Amino acid sequence: MACLCNRQHAFAVSNGSAALELAVQAVGIGKGDEVIMPTFTIISCALAVVRARATPVYVDADPHTWNMKVEDIEPLITERTKAIMAVHIYGITVDMDPLLEIAKKYDLKVIEDAAEVIGQTYKGQPCGSFGDISTFSFYPNKHITTGEGGMVLLNDDELAERCKSLRNLCFGKTDRFVHQELGWNFRMSNLQAAVGVAQLERLPQTLEKKREIGRIYHQHLEGNESFTLPLTQTDYCKNIYWVFGIISEDESKDAKWWMEILTKQEIGTRPFFYPMHKQPIFKNSTMNDQQFKNSQILSKKGFYLPSGIKLTQNQIIMVTEKIVKLS
Ligand SMILES: Cc1ncc(COP(=O)(O)O)c(C=O)c1O
Repeated sequence: MACLCNRQHAFAVSNGSAALELAVQAVGIGKGDEVIMPTFTIISCALAVVRARATPVYVDADPHTWNMKVEDIEPLITERTKAIMAVHIYGITVDMDPLLEIAKKYDLKVIEDAAEVIGQTYKGQPCGSFGDISTFSFYPNKHITTGEGGMVLLNDDELAERCKSLRNLCFGKTDRFVHQELGWNFRMSNLQAAVGVAQLERLPQTLEKKREIGRIYHQHLEGNESFTLPLTQTDYCKNIYWVFGIISEDESKDAKWWMEILTKQEIGTRPFFYPMHKQPIFKNSTMNDQQFKNSQILSKKGFYLPSGIKLTQNQIIMVTEKIVKLS
């Protein structure tokens, strides 16, 4: 994986959420710090920040790419901002160049969560190569799976040593059972790693299949005014379709409506993320819905269609036919 992502160091951990916790801790984020990150993402991103006793500062999603609006980052920077967390969503990448420029200008760390885009590139450079520290997940729905698993990637030798120590209970260097810092057991087992190596060999075929699934969905749903489909590409990347998400444009039918009716027809779907600023566990009265209206719409209207690599062309076409009939 280090080779794939042009990295000096890549080491396995127990899952993608652990990788994020480790990354946040390793770059020194702690009490009183702020981390700018998307509201439209999985809870693992916010949990890592909150568990470090820092504050997540949310950015709305771009209505087209569904990734964080990079142009909204700079006004949110304060003297407490320590890092930007860039999370690539569903198959299109974050626009990394302007994000990296802002990070450089304000001397901020970049944590790149590339869990959903293993094998994807931004302007030809691999995802997982952009952060001061980058992370992957190897959960079963990812392009590479080890059952449960994750990875931390970086170049800095000292930081890598620190990460490895944090992953392995911070055993003492001279006296093994004397600990100077709080660590975790975030190790991955050798058995899982062996599965991961075999999976890595299949990555090109997996990506090809994902793109084929995306192509067939587009072919059969394009032009249907009831939905907005994912972008096929941007200036900087071609969609990798980790999942094939669609947005209902019919005012009377939200994602819940579609998911319920499709379940009755034995078609499995999943909802889009529920934004972090709305999570009951993080309720923050200073954040109002208006600041995050794109994320709210995505969450209410977006869901994704069957996207597993075992799908056949006929199955995908059958899904699209049922959807077209109902729309
Ligand atoms: C963007 C992103 N980050 C982190 C994770 C968490 O990974 P894991 O389930 O391996 O803990 C996921 C899981 O789907 C994810 O999509």
